[in-house]
Amino acid sequence: MGFPKDFLWGGATAANQYEGGYLSGGKGLSTLDAITGGNKDQPRMITFKTKEGEIKEVTRSESLPEGAVGYVDPEKYYPSHVATDFYHHYKEDIALFAEMGFKCFRLSISWARICPKGTDEINEEGLKFYEAVFDECLKYGIEPVVTINHFDIPMYLADHYDGWSNRKVIDYFLFFCETIFTRYKEKVKYWMTFNEINFLRSWTQIGIHSSEAQSKYQAVHHLFVASAKAVQLGHQINPDFQIGMMVAYIPSYPMTSRPEDVLEALQFNREQEFYIDVQVKGYYPAHKIKQFEREGITIVKEPEDDAIIAAGTVDYIGFSYYMSTASTANPENVKYVGGNQMPAVKNPYLEESEWGWAVDPLGLRISLARLYDRYNVPLFIVENGFGAVDELTIDGQIIDDYRIDYFARHIAAMKDAVELDGVDLIGYTPWGCIDVVSSGTGEMKKRYGFIYVDMDDNGHGSLKRMKKKSFDWYKQVIASNGENLAK
Ligand code: BG6
Repeated sequence: MGFPKDFLWGGATAANQYEGGYLSGGKGLSTLDAITGGNKDQPRMITFKTKEGEIKEVTRSESLPEGAVGYVDPEKYYPSHVATDFYHHYKEDIALFAEMGFKCFRLSISWARICPKGTDEINEEGLKFYEAVFDECLKYGIEPVVTINHFDIPMYLADHYDGWSNRKVIDYFLFFCETIFTRYKEKVKYWMTFNEINFLRSWTQIGIHSSEAQSKYQAVHHLFVASAKAVQLGHQINPDFQIGMMVAYIPSYPMTSRPEDVLEALQFNREQEFYIDVQVKGYYPAHKIKQFEREGITIVKEPEDDAIIAAGTVDYIGFSYYMSTASTANPENVKYVGGNQMPAVKNPYLEESEWGWAVDPLGLRISLARLYDRYNVPLFIVENGFGAVDELTIDGQIIDDYRIDYFARHIAAMKDAVELDGVDLIGYTPWGCIDVVSSGTGEMKKRYGFIYVDMDDNGHGSLKRMKKKSFDWYKQVIASNGENLAK
């Protein structure tokens, strides 16, 4: 009983929020290098140059004028440029992960570090960097889990191709995949194609200028084709590769038992499950085709696309789980709180974090059961965690009992899903196992890690690493294979 013996305990990060070294070692610019910091009340901004040469900025969710190109303003602060500097600290950080007993470590490869323009020129120094990182992991018996693309695109592809709206980008992406699959085929077994594919919609994430639904879904179709081709290519290069998809999973409950609320919840849940359907079942679900017809959305497909999608289904579902939400047919009667990438309806039965994200451990068991019942493929929780402000005591300790409490309750829920529901769960990588920049707000103040990094919201700090109280607690959880959750 309990978690399987070879369960992959570890932690998760992403290049743009952790790595830094934004122009070091031959790396090209990525779209996220032109997005400023922010906070709960002040949105992150994209800085860009118009066709006419004017310097402007818009919020991350807004569209960019046609022909606009990303612009890094020397007067502004961009958190991705240094982040928490994994680039120069990887040996120290991986040694700390090993000390906690990590069996795996999830990181993403920066596309612009391997292919500075995103095209078919290779930066050997970039390949060497990740090779050194993987060797360092393997030295400690830590299995690397690689997200091929986490929330950005080389800026050149956004500026010159309008990102993923252009089918040519599929070829460039596959060139990138072939390069890393071939180079790392003896070092990496677990891969994921696109991080939180259901959240990819804007210039920073996929390089498209328009925010119309037509443009978004056309780009998403290209992502599906690219992912399916990458799965097939990876399996040809090494049949032992396990290649997954990655979705942000936020289960929604009907606000009441009124059928209208139940229908709202169904529609909310199947919007995110659409991305899983395509990548696991290998076809567009009927409700999505009907939605496209109703809304006049026409996906331009090549004749072979449906067969590619059908043949390139994934080996497992990787997903992030932070929170749940509720759905209602009467939005005027409910309160809204914060949420992952979008505001969420407040559930009166749940408490929220300081950033408004509902804390719902049972929702994780419900998600695991629902996903396994629906898809019957292995599941991997590749993100989960509690964003909070950590204060240092006078003697320099970080007593993050709130985080320990969050994890203890979520791990207990995972155990129930495995033991009581029979879910095939292969691993767990809590988000930001070491403090990284927040993706949503661009802050350092919102921390997730077991390891504290001395860095503030304006890029000031020594980057010194310090163990939080949760460090030893998670070490004990891993050592007991999830049995000892005592605080
Ligand atoms: C997920 C992303 O949406 O949530 C991560 O995959 C992100 O990149 C994480 O950091 C937590 O969100 P935030 O906004 O608190 O950093």
